[in-house]
Amino acid sequence: MSSQLNRRDWLRASGLLTAGFGLSRFTSAEAATPTAPLVSGFTNEFAFADDPFDKMPKLRARLFANENPLGISANAKAALIKATEVSNRYAWTEFGQLKTMIAADDMVKPENIMLSPGSSDVLMAAADYFAKGEGTILTSAMTYDDLLQRATKFGAKVEALPMTKDYKYDLAAIKARLTASAGRPDVKLVYIVNPNNPTGTILPTAELEAFCREVAPKVPVFIDEAYIDFYEPADRPKLGKLVAEGLNVILARTFSKIHGFAGLRLGYAIAQPDMLKTLHAYTNAEFAVSITTLMAGIASYKDTDWQNHCRAENAKARDYTTKTLTDMGYEVIPTHANFMLFPIRMKTKTFEGQMFAQGIGIQTRDFNGQPYCRVSIGTMDEMAIFVDGFKKVVG
Ligand SMILES: Cc1ncc(COP(=O)(O)O)c(C=O)c1O
Repeated sequence: MSSQLNRRDWLRASGLLTAGFGLSRFTSAEAATPTAPLVSGFTNEFAFADDPFDKMPKLRARLFANENPLGISANAKAALIKATEVSNRYAWTEFGQLKTMIAADDMVKPENIMLSPGSSDVLMAAADYFAKGEGTILTSAMTYDDLLQRATKFGAKVEALPMTKDYKYDLAAIKARLTASAGRPDVKLVYIVNPNNPTGTILPTAELEAFCREVAPKVPVFIDEAYIDFYEPADRPKLGKLVAEGLNVILARTFSKIHGFAGLRLGYAIAQPDMLKTLHAYTNAEFAVSITTLMAGIASYKDTDWQNHCRAENAKARDYTTKTLTDMGYEVIPTHANFMLFPIRMKTKTFEGQMFAQGIGIQTRDFNGQPYCRVSIGTMDEMAIFVDGFKKVVG
């Protein structure tokens, strides 16, 4: 599905794994059709061995992977170093410590939580499990497609419904598709990303909750909340309560974003204990989380000052970039995450190549014939480099 985003494919497609700038995996052809088949046009294989890493471009602004440009908190760093003293031992009670803290915040029990080395592991496990015996995964066009790509590899079909005009998941359309006269016994899973990647849009919490209450008794609902930490704490959806109510909702979260753990690898799922047990059979999950990452994760989770700081810095750089682009006449989709998407007026390949040539890493894609740029929100300095480079490219 060419409208969707997969980090590994993109790295390859954008040239970071191939040392070429030209190739973009995004074309618009399938995006317009509601039942677009999942055809990326790129292989999902990850042949690191063949990739000339030494030829990767040096970036002045690394704005292609939605990472935290500020790093990890000082407390997390101290905990990480201290944990080296016990890194000869398997982690033991530490899993419980982190799960207990998360459970308290999400109004679930620790047995509703499974830790993992990044949320990708949860996504992959779900893809493997729900693809079993074939069937369909319902989702939206223009979303993150790691889970979807993987599921198709193992026989699942993906039905990506058109977004609403304001680039959101069309929950009513998904519901209608599920409840169409004969029902849809082939649908095994509904996959939602909120805030969505690459659009940065969010769904109204009450609407999402109502959707889950109606749909989850029939079909499991997987909500990828990778960017949830960019909500202001007071507005943050608390969908853990749906799990506490016994609904078949699976939440996937990551420390890769606001906590800055993309390289350290830590994530988790919140779901029914039986579902976690099932998913655990498809992944090494908790056992694959190192004691160093775990101890750093516990420290980072407690460090709300750092999280608030990262959120505030992200908002500052977001507002600056949005205003600059808007003043230049570009229509930036209002974002609730650490990246933004906007339509551009030149070919994706040309644009991406010219940005990369200036040491600025971004992503591009075509959607319904319209080229777009997705830029991660970096530091203010990086965003100034982005804006300057952008002006040079668009004239
Ligand atoms: C929507 C979404 N889900 C999941 C992930 C996977 O993150 P990680 O495996 O680093 O936790 C990403 C990464 O960018 C993402 O954008």
